[in-house]
Formats: sequence, structure tokens, C-alpha cells
Amino acid sequence: MDDKALFKLTSGLFLFITKTDKDNGCIINTVLQVTSSPVRIITVVNKNNYTHDMVKKTGIFNVSVLSETAPMDLYKKFGYASGRDTDKFTGYGSVRRSENGILYLTEYSSAYISGKVIEEKDLGTHTLFIADVTDAQIISDDESVTYNYYQKNIKPAPETNNVNRKGFICTICGYIYEESTLPEDYICPICKHGAEAFKPL
Ligand SMILES: Cc1cc2nc3c(=O)[nH]c(=O)nc-3n(C[C@H](O)[C@H](O)[C@H](O)COP(=O)(O)O)c2cc1C
Repeated sequence: MDDKALFKLTSGLFLFITKTDKDNGCIINTVLQVTSSPVRIITVVNKNNYTHDMVKKTGIFNVSVLSETAPMDLYKKFGYASGRDTDKFTGYGSVRRSENGILYLTEYSSAYISGKVIEEKDLGTHTLFIADVTDAQIISDDESVTYNYYQKNIKPAPETNNVNRKGFICTICGYIYEESTLPEDYICPICKHGAEAFKPL
């Protein structure tokens, strides 16, 4: 099997947001509308993510559909750090609350969708959430970003000074694992992709 074939699947990028005693969100690439009557979406989130635990508690979330205008800083803020260690929304101005009380982005996004979880499925490393859409609004006419666009136009090229480093680089987020062998079940601590996303330096 050629694992790289799976990279040919297209997807968007999203900010998956919820709220308990604090607001938090993380970048994900797995949101899909599955039915239109009723309007339902599915989303799959890694169990290591704090946002995952929060949504399991609250059962409600917003998905901000990221646009091509979203800068790398936004991906770093919400996709490289955990809400367990930092308050990602403190001082972040470009947000508003929707009717469910959860934040959504007012820039760098083309739309937001509010979801209410009706079912969960344990997928081992991840949880699949099936949700009714309770609200959805367009934010801008900007193109929604694709993973491919992010890889080609937003994510910085790997640093050239990596030439003297030995190990494996995550082709998704650029994290470097500095060991001579990469365990088969290795998961990137930053973006949570598996060993198949790594290539030798
Ligand atoms: C481009 C990009 C794509 C990502 N895709 C996913 C994804 O599909 N699923 C996921 O669970 N985490 C994904 N992540 C990783 C989470 O956003 C990241 O682990 C985040 O720091 C978790 O934050 P939290 O602990 O506050 O929830 C992605 C990160 C980036 C930068």
C-alpha cells in the first residue's frame, strides 16, 4: 500500500471551537456535511487535543471555515499549541459569539457552522462526532482554504539549516524528530499526524 495515496484526498481546514470555563479551539481538517435533511456534519478530532475533551463535555461547538487569507500565525496559535497550557483567545480580537455562546472567527474565515453533538464513535486515537447543524452563517466571500493550498502557499518551506540535523521531519507541520529510527506508531506531538506523514531529513 502507498500511504501517500491518502494525501490525494482533498480537505479544508477549520477552527474547531468550544467553551467550558474558558474558550478554546484547535485546527482540524476533518469536517464534512453528511446529510441535508436534517443538516448534519461529522468531525473527527484527536483524543490528545484539549478541545476534544471540552466538546465531549459540552456537546456543542462552532466550526469556523478558514479562508485562504488566514495567515500562518493563526495556524501556529491554534494548531501548534494546546489550550491546556495557554489561553488562545485572550487578546484575540477577531471573534464574536454566536447564539450557542461559542466564539467564531470574524476574519480569515468564509463561514461558521454551529453543531450540537448527537452521537459519538470511538475510533481509537480519535473520536468521531456526528452533529446536528443548529446555525450557519457566511462571514466573507473569500475562498475557503484547502489543505493543498495551505501546504503550497501558507506553510513556510522547511528551514534550510536542517541539512546538518539527522532525523525525520513531519511533512504536515515541520516538526523534527531527531532520532535515527522513527517508531511505526509515532504520532507528531504538534499536528498529531502519524509516522506516514514523516520523511527523513
Ligand atoms: C495544518 C494543521 C492541521 C491539523 N489537523 C488536525 C486534525 O485534522 N485533527 C486533529 O485532531 N488535530 C489536527 N491538528 C493539530 C491540532 O490543531 C493541535 O494539536 C492543537 O494544538 C490542539 O489544541 P488543543 O489541545 O487546544 O485542542 C492540525 C494542526 C495543523 C497546524
